[in-house]
Amino acid sequence: MIKSLIFVVLLVVSECFVLQAAAKSPNASTEEELLEPQCSNLKRHEIESHLSTKTPYRVVANLDDKPITYPECRATRIWSVIRHGTRNPSKEHIEGTKFRLVQLKEQILKNPQTKLCPEELNRLRFWNFNISSEEEKYLTAEGEDELQELAERMQNRFPNLLVYEYDPDLYYFKYTKTQRTLKSAESFTSGLFGKHGIGSVEYPEALHKDPVLRFYKLCKKWQTDVDDNPKTFDNSKRFLQEPEIIEAVNHMRRRTQVQNITAEDAKLIYTICGFETAWYPQQDPSVWCSLFNTDAIRAFEFFEDLEYFWNDGYGYELTHRMACAAMKNMFEYIDPNSNKPNATFYFTHSGTLLKVLAHLGLYKDSEPLTYRDFGRERAWRTSVIDAFATNLAFVLYECDNGNGPMILTLHQERPIRLPGCPQDQDLCSLKTLKEKYNRYLTSCDLEEICHIHQEHDEN
Ligand SMILES: *[C@@H]1O[C@H](CO)[C@@H](O)[C@H](O)[C@H]1NC(C)=O
Ligand SMILES: *[C@@H]1O[C@H](CO)[C@@H](O)[C@H](O)[C@H]1NC(C)=O
Ligand SMILES: *[C@@H]1O[C@H](CO)[C@@H](O)[C@H](O)[C@H]1NC(C)=O
Ligand SMILES: *[C@@H]1O[C@H](CO)[C@@H](O)[C@H](O)[C@H]1NC(C)=O
Repeated sequence: MIKSLIFVVLLVVSECFVLQAAAKSPNASTEEELLEPQCSNLKRHEIESHLSTKTPYRVVANLDDKPITYPECRATRIWSVIRHGTRNPSKEHIEGTKFRLVQLKEQILKNPQTKLCPEELNRLRFWNFNISSEEEKYLTAEGEDELQELAERMQNRFPNLLVYEYDPDLYYFKYTKTQRTLKSAESFTSGLFGKHGIGSVEYPEALHKDPVLRFYKLCKKWQTDVDDNPKTFDNSKRFLQEPEIIEAVNHMRRRTQVQNITAEDAKLIYTICGFETAWYPQQDPSVWCSLFNTDAIRAFEFFEDLEYFWNDGYGYELTHRMACAAMKNMFEYIDPNSNKPNATFYFTHSGTLLKVLAHLGLYKDSEPLTYRDFGRERAWRTSVIDAFATNLAFVLYECDNGNGPMILTLHQERPIRLPGCPQDQDLCSLKTLKEKYNRYLTSCDLEEICHIHQEHDEN
């Protein structure tokens, strides 16, 4: 009796010890992975919502499309910039995939040590990538749906402003000289007017370097000082050597048992995991995503956040100062006395949306984002603020309450409150908004801002 009691006590004590040891070991899951093949436990939403600028719009969309009304006010004008929808990869990524990922697929499949589970191996066996380089960056079927459904919801929110009949005195649409923004415009207008109603829609000549839709393409100084400046990428490059990325790459090596996967390979796998997941909402996420765990996918998301922060966001003052070009156009079109059409929609790119968001002071952290900030809370999250089909809209309300014209700002179809505007209500007076941004607008001369001075060259 006593003997067995001692035995039970011993058993309990030793079990506690084992549990404690397991909880303390930082490599517990690592060691587990080394034992048996295992399916990735990543859920669809854990993948889909961390894809940076490859995040499909469905993750951030606002499906509540009730009319947005304010007492004694009616919406009479709207000005909006919209990123193109989900697209194909760039030529570089297409070719990289056809070369390196096809190679990796073979290496994984022929390796008996692989830790991918049989279902994953089977999906990998049937994986093929047949997009031709000629179709680089083309809008995909999912991208068309994103734009069409966005238009339908916007029309439901503002039924009196976004009328069902196309009228060139009411509507103005413009896109840049690219297939993906053209197709985005066509999908959006078919959402407004129906597939048979878009034949009569007029568009101005599309420009590759549009001074409003893509102002940065005209800015030599930005290209030299920021876009082509290796310093811009110091933080993201440095992050590739941090423990978070090293551990992410190690995780992929353990999963696949392919030891020569590099950080560059891992970046490509992250990108293709993103694209393939974005393209097919009805299918399982891309098989390439099963090489990640939650920490790994978040590490690559942070890498992208760093790149975009420094290249298109708050990193350099010039980058967001230039966006005055778009804001100036907004104030011209949104004015109640303007003779411009009431509803303006511009179909453009990530580079434009991010610079405009930064110009407005949105999603700004107290300190610039650096390679050391992975663990820190951050407002700058491209997965949330710059998904495919990201959109920003200013809506003018004319009111009978004597307060003058008011502006509602929507980002991803949700009301947002701009810095400098009242923080306890959605509407901001046009007057306040103009005062707030006036200093940027009166000095918004891109020729001057973007001129590369002689002294600069001699420095
Ligand atoms: C835990 O994993 C890290 C990185 O994989 C490794 O460097 C370290 O030696 C491991 N520690 C133990 C106790 O296994
Ligand atoms: C278009 O804007 C003008 C004022 O700028 C307004 O009077 C008119 O009602 C608007 N049209 C629609 C359909 O809202
Ligand atoms: C490419 O692959 C997809 C799915 O694997 C298939 O539906 C499509 O027909 C293929 N296209 C071509 C041109 O082979
Ligand atoms: C990686 O290793 C495999 C053998 O496991 C080899 O066939 C392949 O060429 C290597 N790839 C690179 C890029 O070094």
